[in-house]
Amino acid sequence: MTSSNGAPDGFLAGCMDRLETPATIAMAQRARALKAKGEEVLSLALGEPDFPTPAGVIEAAHRAALDGQTKYPPVEGTPALKAAIIRKFARENGLTYEPAEVMVSNGGKQVIFNAFMATLNPGDEVIVPRPYWVSYPLIISLFGGIPVFVDCPEESGFRLDAAALEAAITPRTKWLVLNFPNNPTGATTTRADLEAIAEVLRRHPRVHVLSDEIYEHLVYDGQAHVSIAQVAPDLKSRVLTLNGVSKAYAMTGWRVGYVGGPAPLIRAMSGIQSSSTSGICSISQAASVAALDGPSGVVEVMRETYDRRRQMVVAALRQIPQLTCAMPLGAFYVYPGIAACIGRTSAGGRLLRTDEDFAIALLEEQHVAVVHGSAFGKGPYLRLSYATSDEILIESCARIATFVAGLT
Ligand SMILES: Cc1ncc(COP(=O)(O)O)c(C=O)c1O
Repeated sequence: MTSSNGAPDGFLAGCMDRLETPATIAMAQRARALKAKGEEVLSLALGEPDFPTPAGVIEAAHRAALDGQTKYPPVEGTPALKAAIIRKFARENGLTYEPAEVMVSNGGKQVIFNAFMATLNPGDEVIVPRPYWVSYPLIISLFGGIPVFVDCPEESGFRLDAAALEAAITPRTKWLVLNFPNNPTGATTTRADLEAIAEVLRRHPRVHVLSDEIYEHLVYDGQAHVSIAQVAPDLKSRVLTLNGVSKAYAMTGWRVGYVGGPAPLIRAMSGIQSSSTSGICSISQAASVAALDGPSGVVEVMRETYDRRRQMVVAALRQIPQLTCAMPLGAFYVYPGIAACIGRTSAGGRLLRTDEDFAIALLEEQHVAVVHGSAFGKGPYLRLSYATSDEILIESCARIATFVAGLT
């Protein structure tokens, strides 16, 4: 007997049943398969900056390699990078951390993995505002935790309502995940929202917060990003403030994420990392020091470009009669609603029962890759990443318009 992935029956651990391929990666794989057949596919499916890593960062990596920074680095991060992270938290978030309160991981994703592995017992609940980044529930479930979803409706800008949060808290709640600016909706949060959320958390002293602020630099229309640990300093000892260089500095391939939080939890997370990946690539850590300490103008140029594209894409999508499109205030995603398209048939004869049917038909018929909203827990929507060139964005929106115009 073999299981569905070809392994002998009973060989894979039970938790593997809960480990699905994230829809974002599945859609990118479909797009790659089409490309391999020689088709020209336009991809708005992946959340990856299209900019090159800043030259100064690459030079710092080169220097580090030549200087012999090629040995096993400390598990929790090099002293130089930890110092740069501490400066960054103080400068940009008004947060003071000691060296024992920060650590570096293999991307923000490993921070989440370490945190949940270190704390979740089977049946522990983690509140995840919905729509959510796909990896949260996957990682929570992997460790036997239960994701408890709280809806963030489009009518309220996909923001988290404090009363809805409180209604979801039970004696088993261990964590609340906050992710603003948000993937997939681009929603941001306000100081007032965070103050209301903090008020709820004060009434529930067992609940910790994983605040994923990886898109913090990408906010628009004159907003300023705020961290919950800054808004509510009394809660700082139960907040993990997660960040990384992937999105802000176009460094997805360097695999550096970092976190500030209470020392005992950081120690536990570091213990897990020690037994899994050890320290993070020494060259990438040197590069990340240059990124964090480097000129902020680099980030600002990218932010302005995303802002322009955001407005261009939303304007184009709003021209398409069957779509609704809220203006996102952060990150580099738009999340148009496609309710009016559901139940209709594409020009290629595909019945669109769900937003996933829509995304697959759009890819097959117009060669545009997007991710369906139900993969992020909320359909019928699509998530489009505008971290790609103007030409690709303009052509993709035109193809989406053609696809929708062809529905009967
Ligand atoms: C919301 C969010 N958090 C964390 C990450 C992790 O990024 P990385 O592991 O590259 O630091 C991503 C990447 O897509 C993300 O969208």
